[in-house]
Amino acid sequence: MKAVVINHCCKAEDLKVSELPLPKVKPGWVLVKIHAAGLNHSEALMRQFEADSDYINTPVVPGIECVGEIADASDSRFSNGDRVIALMGGMGRSFNGSYAEYALLPEKIVFGVDTDLDWISLAAVPETYYTAYGSLQECLLLQPGDTLLVRGATSTVGKAAIQLAKAMGATVIGACRREQSFGELRALGADCCVTDDAHISSAALPVKPNKALELVGPKTLADTMRTVSRPGYVCNTGILGNQFTLPDFDPIKQIPNGVFLSGFFSNYPTRQVINELFGLIARAHIRPLYSKVFALDEIAEAHTLLERGGAGGKIILNISNAHEQK
Ligand SMILES: NC(=O)c1ccc[n+]([C@@H]2O[C@H](COP(=O)([O-])OP(=O)(O)OC[C@H]3O[C@@H](n4cnc5c(N)ncnc54)[C@H](OP(=O)(O)O)[C@@H]3O)[C@@H](O)[C@H]2O)c1
Repeated sequence: MKAVVINHCCKAEDLKVSELPLPKVKPGWVLVKIHAAGLNHSEALMRQFEADSDYINTPVVPGIECVGEIADASDSRFSNGDRVIALMGGMGRSFNGSYAEYALLPEKIVFGVDTDLDWISLAAVPETYYTAYGSLQECLLLQPGDTLLVRGATSTVGKAAIQLAKAMGATVIGACRREQSFGELRALGADCCVTDDAHISSAALPVKPNKALELVGPKTLADTMRTVSRPGYVCNTGILGNQFTLPDFDPIKQIPNGVFLSGFFSNYPTRQVINELFGLIARAHIRPLYSKVFALDEIAEAHTLLERGGAGGKIILNISNAHEQK
């Protein structure tokens, strides 16, 4: 099979397709024929900085998510031909991931999906929409009538969160760095938008949010916790601000009374959340967002764009082409 393999930290232009033997199934694992895969910023970071670390099982096929069909169900609950998505759980880091025609994956991170979406649209969903929905549902307990602030709203997860939160009956405030993005955020469902100058708590918002999805991260988290009404819920899911932790975190003084702080980590996807997510996408006719599609043998170009930023949304690898070229 065709696959992209990383042996060490390397540049985007060093990535290329090579041939690997088709993996053999083993109990608890299933073989997935991959049709498409979304790219993630964490994959650029892994290639640039983490591939030489002992916790990355090199040589490794990168890629933390994919969509495709079961090619060999092994001893699992699946049947060959089932349409599936897979994400996280060590994929593309501890074991080979999605930059390949096939992946051998633990059954627990593979989920059957009943959907009309084409492969490319479906590939925009797993990590991005799971992260957005999990944050809203598991951490913020989002309910119809809530007012949600999405901070870092122009990110891929932010835009997905706007679509999903509207479909869940919330009023949505989108916060982003540039006013030029307001039109796009409104078109996705944001009821109003605010420019993020790092001090939203002192901005005159038309309505006070009782919930907030923090995608800029620890850099603006204290300000977000001051922005929500009481009781208020804040979920830190992102680190767009490139500050990963809160220095000298003193929860007594730094979490305001009546504010409930949570963090979301997509590493442990559950079937219940996946099923709810796809039910919502179907019921609300949500169109999964993506910006650019590359073939597997254009991986160097795709990673260059991923690393540079500015794709304006999810980058997808179309792997169906690789199968068709045989
Ligand atoms: N917790 C988890 O399990 C999990 C899972 C997935 C992703 N994440 C995190 O969620 C965040 C969003 O991921 P993504 O893939 O959606 O990102 P993305 O699409 O790559 O977001 C990039 C966009 O975010 C905006 N942005 C960048 N820096 C910003 C800043 N300091 N303040 C406000 N906006 C900023 C920029 O838009 P403008 O140029 O328009 O400002 C940029 O184009 C990331 O931090 C990612 O690491 C977490």
